[in-house]
Amino acid sequence: MPSSSPCYRHSFLFLALLSACFSTPGAADGTGGAGDGGDAAAMQALRRDLAPPGWGPGADHCAWRGVTCAAAGAGGVVTAIELPRRGLRGDFAAAAALRALARLDLSANSLSGGLSPAFGALTRLEYLDLSMNALTGAVPAALAGASALRFLNLSNNALSGAIPDDLRGLKKLQELQISGNNLTGSLPGWLARLPGLRVLSAYENALSGPIPPGLGLSSELQVLNLHSNALEGSIPSSLFELGNLQVLILTMNRLNGTIPDTIGRCRGLSNVRIGDNLLSGAIPASIGDATGLTYFEANTNDLSGGIPTQFARCANLTLLNLAYNRLAGEVPDVLGELRSLQELIVSGNGLCGEFPKSILRCRNLSKLDLSYNAFRGGLPESICNGSRMQFLLLDHNEFSGGIPAGIGGCTRLLELHLGSNNLSGEIPAEIGKVKSLQIVLNLSFNHFTGPLPHELGRLDKLVMLDLSSNEMSGQIPSDMRGMLSLIEVNLSNNRFSGAIPVFGPFQKSAASSFSGNAKLCGNPLNVDCGSIYGSNYRMDHRGISYRVALAVVGSCVLIFSLVSLVVALFMWREKQEKEEDAKKKAEAGEVVVAAPQVVASSVFIDSMQQAIDFQSCMKATLKDANEVSNGTFSTSYKAVMPSGMVVCVKKLKSVDRAVIHQQTKMIRELERLAHINHKNLVRPVGYVIYDDVALLLHQHMLNGTLLQLLHSSGGDTDGKKQKPDWPRLLSIAIDVAEGLAFLHQVATIHLDICSGNVFLDSHYNALLGEVEISKLLDPSKGTASISTVAGSFGYIPPGDGARQCVQLRRGPAGDPDIQATRGRRVRRGRGPRQVGAHRTSKG
Ligand SMILES: *[C@@H]1O[C@H](CO)[C@@H](O)[C@H](O)[C@H]1NC(C)=O
Ligand SMILES: *[C@@H]1O[C@H](CO)[C@@H](O)[C@H](O)[C@H]1NC(C)=O
Ligand SMILES: *[C@@H]1O[C@H](CO)[C@@H](O)[C@H](O)[C@H]1NC(C)=O
Ligand SMILES: *[C@@H]1O[C@H](CO)[C@@H](O)[C@H](O)[C@H]1NC(C)=O
Ligand SMILES: *[C@@H]1O[C@H](CO)[C@@H](O)[C@H](O)[C@H]1NC(C)=O
Ligand SMILES: *[C@@H]1O[C@H](CO)[C@@H](O)[C@H](O)[C@H]1NC(C)=O
Ligand SMILES: *[C@@H]1O[C@H](CO)[C@@H](O)[C@H](O)[C@H]1NC(C)=O
Ligand SMILES: *[C@@H]1O[C@H](CO)[C@@H](O)[C@H](O)[C@H]1NC(C)=O
Ligand SMILES: *[C@@H]1O[C@H](CO)[C@@H](O)[C@H](O)[C@H]1NC(C)=O
Repeated sequence: MPSSSPCYRHSFLFLALLSACFSTPGAADGTGGAGDGGDAAAMQALRRDLAPPGWGPGADHCAWRGVTCAAAGAGGVVTAIELPRRGLRGDFAAAAALRALARLDLSANSLSGGLSPAFGALTRLEYLDLSMNALTGAVPAALAGASALRFLNLSNNALSGAIPDDLRGLKKLQELQISGNNLTGSLPGWLARLPGLRVLSAYENALSGPIPPGLGLSSELQVLNLHSNALEGSIPSSLFELGNLQVLILTMNRLNGTIPDTIGRCRGLSNVRIGDNLLSGAIPASIGDATGLTYFEANTNDLSGGIPTQFARCANLTLLNLAYNRLAGEVPDVLGELRSLQELIVSGNGLCGEFPKSILRCRNLSKLDLSYNAFRGGLPESICNGSRMQFLLLDHNEFSGGIPAGIGGCTRLLELHLGSNNLSGEIPAEIGKVKSLQIVLNLSFNHFTGPLPHELGRLDKLVMLDLSSNEMSGQIPSDMRGMLSLIEVNLSNNRFSGAIPVFGPFQKSAASSFSGNAKLCGNPLNVDCGSIYGSNYRMDHRGISYRVALAVVGSCVLIFSLVSLVVALFMWREKQEKEEDAKKKAEAGEVVVAAPQVVASSVFIDSMQQAIDFQSCMKATLKDANEVSNGTFSTSYKAVMPSGMVVCVKKLKSVDRAVIHQQTKMIRELERLAHINHKNLVRPVGYVIYDDVALLLHQHMLNGTLLQLLHSSGGDTDGKKQKPDWPRLLSIAIDVAEGLAFLHQVATIHLDICSGNVFLDSHYNALLGEVEISKLLDPSKGTASISTVAGSFGYIPPGDGARQCVQLRRGPAGDPDIQATRGRRVRRGRGPRQVGAHRTSKG
C-alpha cells in the first residue's frame, strides 16, 4: 500500500519543514527535558498502546517511522511525532510524557476518548494536530499549561462543552482550529487579546453569543471562519480595523446589525461570506476600497438600500450574491466593468428598471439570476452576447415583449427560466439552436402565442420543459420526439389541439401536464380523440383494417392482463411468505434487522430493473465485511443481488444528511446524471433512501481503480497484475481527459479527481466516478455558495479553469479558508481511495 494517497496535501510537507526549523534548535539544548531513559519508556508505552506501523522492532525509537529526535542515537530525546493517516486507534496519552515534544501530528486517524489533561505538561509543544479523529468529551482546561502552543488543530472530532476560559494561557497561539465539533457556549473574550492570532476557525459547532468584541485589534487576524453556529450580535468593526483580514466567513448564524464601514480598510480581503444572517442596513460604499474582493456573498439577510456602484472598483470580483434581501433600485451599469464577474445573483429583492444590459459586457458571466424582482421592459436582442452564459434566471419579473431571436446565440446555456413574466409573441425557432439546454426550459405563466416550433425537437439534452399557462395553439409537433432526454414536460393550460404524439415521456407524464387544453386528446389525458374529432378521426381510409387492429389489440390486452394478474398473485404470495418467515425468525429470538422504511427508490436503467433488489442493497451496507472503500464523501459496499449481479452501493456519509432532507432535489439530480451519458463517466444506476440514509447504486467495475492498477503489483493480492504499459496508461489518460472535458461542458466540477476515482472496466476503458457528489453536496450549509455554483468553474480563486479542481482539493496556499470552509464535506479519505472496486464478480 502506498503510504500517501495521491490527493496528499503538500502544505503538510511545508508545515513539517517549517516546524522542524523552529523546533529542533529549541529541543537540541535539551536540558529541561526528560532524561533519555524517560523517553524510551514513554515511546515503548506509546508503541504498545497505538501500535503504529513502522515502529520497532528495534529499540532505537529515533529510527521509528514519523519520529524525530533532537540528536540521533538510541534513547534520544523525541521532539516530533508525525503520524497522520495511519489508521491509529487506541490511547495516545503516553505521548504526554515526552517532555521535549515540540510537534505532535496524529491527524486523520481513529483516535477516540478524551484529550488527556496531561498534555498540559508539554511546555515545549508548539504544534498539536489531532484533527479528523473521534475524540469526545471537553477540551481539558489543563491544556493551558502547554503555553508554547502556536498551532492547535482539533477540528472534526466530537468534542463538546465550552471552550475553557483557562486556555487564555496559550498566549502564543497563531492558529486555532476547532471547527466541526459539538462545542457550545460562547467564544471567549481572551481570543480578542491573543497577540499573534492569525487564523480562527470554529465553524460547524453550536457556539452562541457574540463574536468577541475587539477581535482583530491585538493581532494580524487574517482568517475568521465561524459559519454554521448560532452566533448573535453584530459583526465587530474591529475585525477590519488593522486591515489584515483576508477571509471572513460567518454564513448561517444569527448576526444582526450592519456591515461595518471599516470593511474597506482590508485591501487584501478576498472572501466575504455573510449570508443567512439577520444583517440589516445598507451595504457600505467603502466596500469599493476592498479592491481585492473576489467573492462577496450576503444573501438571505435583511439588507436594504441599493447595490453600491462601488463594487465596480473590485476588479477581481467573480461572484456577487445579494439574493433575498430588501435591496431596491437598479443594477448599476458600472458593474459591466467587472471583467472577471462570473455570477451575479440578485434574486428575491425589490430591484427594478430594465434588463441590465451592461452586465452582458462581462465576458465571463456564466450565471445571471434576476428572478423574483420587478424588472420590466423587453429582453435585449443579444441576450447572451456570445458570452459564457450557462444559467439565465429571469423568472418572476415583469419583462414584456418577445423572446429575442438572439437567444440562438446562447450556445452554452444549460438552464433558462423566463416563467411568470409578461412575455408574449411566438417562441422563436432559434430556440432550437440552444443545443446545450439541459436542465430546464421554463416559459410558463406568460402570454406566449402561436404554435410550438418544430425546432424544439433538436433539444436532445433537455430534461424539463415547462410551457404551461400560456396561450399557445396548434398541434404538438411530432418532432418533439427528438427530445431524447426529456423527463418532465408541462404543456397544460394552453390552447393546443389534436392528438398528443406517442412519445414515452409524454405518455408517462401526469394528466396535469396536458390538461387545460380543451381540444387536446390522447394519452395521458385519457381522452379519446374520436370523441372530439369524430369517430373518423385519422381513420377515414382504414375501416376494415381498423377493426381487425382493434380485435388484435383487444385480445393482446386481455392476454396481457391475465398474465399480469398471475404474476402479481405470485409475487404477492412470495412476499407474504417472506414476511411470515421474518416474523417467525423474530419470534424465535433471532436478530432480525427491522426492515427500514424505504422513503424513495428507483432504478434508472430499464434493463437492470429486474436484477436489483433494494433490500439486498441495504443489508449489504450493514456488514463491515462488504465494505470496499471509505472515500471522501461516502463508503462503498459490494452488494450481491439475488439475481447474482454485483453492484456497488455507495452510502453517503452522515454529514451529508441534509441532502436527504432535500431528497426531491437530490432525486432530480440523480436522474439527470443518469441521463448524462458519456462513455468515460460512471453512470448512476439507481438509489434507495431510507430513514436518513441515502444509497447510490452503480455498476461495478471489473478492473477496480486506476490507483489499484498503479500500486497493486507489489501488493498482497493475487500478484497476477502487471505494471500497466505505456500505451495503456496513455489511453487511460485520454479517457480521463475526455470524461473531464465532458463534465466541464455540462458545467460540473468534479471536486475529487484522483486515481482512486478512476475506474476501469473489463476492457480497461477508464470511467470517472463520484461525479454526482458535486451535485449532491449540501447547499444549505455554509458551503452554499460553492455547491450551488458548483456548476461553474474558475472563480475561486481567479485562475485558469483547469487548475480549479486541483485547487479545490488542496486548498491554495494563500487561501486556507477554502479547504476549511468545505470543511467536513471535503474530508480526505483515510489512506488510498478505492471507491467501488470489486475483485469478485459473477460472470
Ligand atoms: C486542521 O484540520 C482540518 C481537518 O479537520 C484540516 O482541514 C485543516 O487543514 C487543518 N489545518 C491545518 C492548518 O492543517
Ligand atoms: C451535541 O451536544 C448536544 C448536547 O450537548 C447533544 O444533544 C447532541 O446529540 C450532540 N451532537 C452530536 C452530533 O454529538
Ligand atoms: C441584535 O440582537 C441582540 C440579541 O441577539 C439584540 O439585543 C440587539 O438589540 C439586536 N440589535 C439590532 C440592531 O437588531
Ligand atoms: C487581482 O488578481 C490578480 C491575480 O490574482 C492580482 O495580481 C491582483 O493584484 C488582484 N487585484 C487586486 C486589486 O487585488
Ligand atoms: C475569463 O475566463 C477565462 C477562462 O476561464 C480566463 O482565461 C480569463 O482570464 C477570464 N477573464 C477574466 C477577465 O477574468
Ligand atoms: C457585446 O459584446 C461586445 C464584445 O464582444 C461588447 O463590445 C458589446 O458592448 C456587448 N454588447 C452589449 C449589449 O453588452
Ligand atoms: C416553471 O416556473 C414556474 C413558475 O414560473 C414554476 O411554478 C414551475 O414549477 C417551473 N417548472 C419547472 C419544471 O421547474
Ligand atoms: C404586459 O405587456 C403588454 C404589452 O405586451 C402591456 O400592454 C401590458 O401593460 C403589460 N402588463 C403589465 C402588467 O406589465
Ligand atoms: C403543470 O403546470 C400546472 C400549472 O400551469 C400545474 O398546476 C400542474 O401541476 C403542472 N403539472 C405537472 C405534472 O407538473
